[in-house]
Amino acid sequence: MSVHKVIKRVTTNTILSMKTNGEKVTMLTAYDFSTAKALDEAGIDVLLIGDSAANVFAGYETTLPITLDNMIYHASAVARGAKRALVLADLPFGEYQGTAEDAFKAAVRMMKESGVHALKLEGGIEIIDNIKKIIDAGIPVCGHLGLTPQSINKFGTFSVRAQEEAEAEKLKSDALALQQAGCFAIVLEKIPAKLAREVSESLNIPTVGIGAGNGCDGQVLVVNDMLGFTKDFKPKFLRQYMKMYENVVEAASQYAADVKSGNYPNESEQY
Ligand code: KIV
Repeated sequence: MSVHKVIKRVTTNTILSMKTNGEKVTMLTAYDFSTAKALDEAGIDVLLIGDSAANVFAGYETTLPITLDNMIYHASAVARGAKRALVLADLPFGEYQGTAEDAFKAAVRMMKESGVHALKLEGGIEIIDNIKKIIDAGIPVCGHLGLTPQSINKFGTFSVRAQEEAEAEKLKSDALALQQAGCFAIVLEKIPAKLAREVSESLNIPTVGIGAGNGCDGQVLVVNDMLGFTKDFKPKFLRQYMKMYENVVEAASQYAADVKSGNYPNESEQY
């Protein structure tokens, strides 16, 4: 008898049913094959190839410079590493804010060339026709409201959004519009916890929060941040689960010392 472990893929339907069943959605970013494999084994529900790759992978100050080609490269590596998780990729700045036709073409390129299962787009009513066109083509879309880093030059700062009533009201209408357009989930970034809870309770689709409190239907973090690899980035909402930066410095220093002293490689580490 052959024993096969059948891995059931998380789909957008699974994510939607988590909301119905009161089960929280877990999401982390990933940018490469090895990390994707480890996060998948840990049982993370959604792996997001965030355009935060521009910051934590490439060292840019904002997410604006990353290209569709760059994102497809990262996304295909993650898609190869994930056997169970739903793989979700950001469309980068400039690829979907113009015509619906351009947004659709970028979405199709990402789907064909990377093998991801769904796309995330930042924004609400302004881009709703573009989102509808992508969803009508059979591509699942996750919305993203609140602090939308692709608009950082409009905001001017990375501080908490929607603290004023007008912006909070706009966010609520945007969330409803995204649900009506057929989005399967919405990321809520850096908004007051009370507002995030209210929005989450008003929707049938799950919200996934980052810096948006415990009332969201799931949580997402940038993997480099939660592992402590971006060691000096410590916003209030972040919990560091590892001290990866210090661990890497320690391991690399030990390796350097071993090579310099002739201790590495030893007899059992050579042919
Ligand atoms: O790009 C990203 O990593 C994101 C998350 C912060 C949600 O959009």
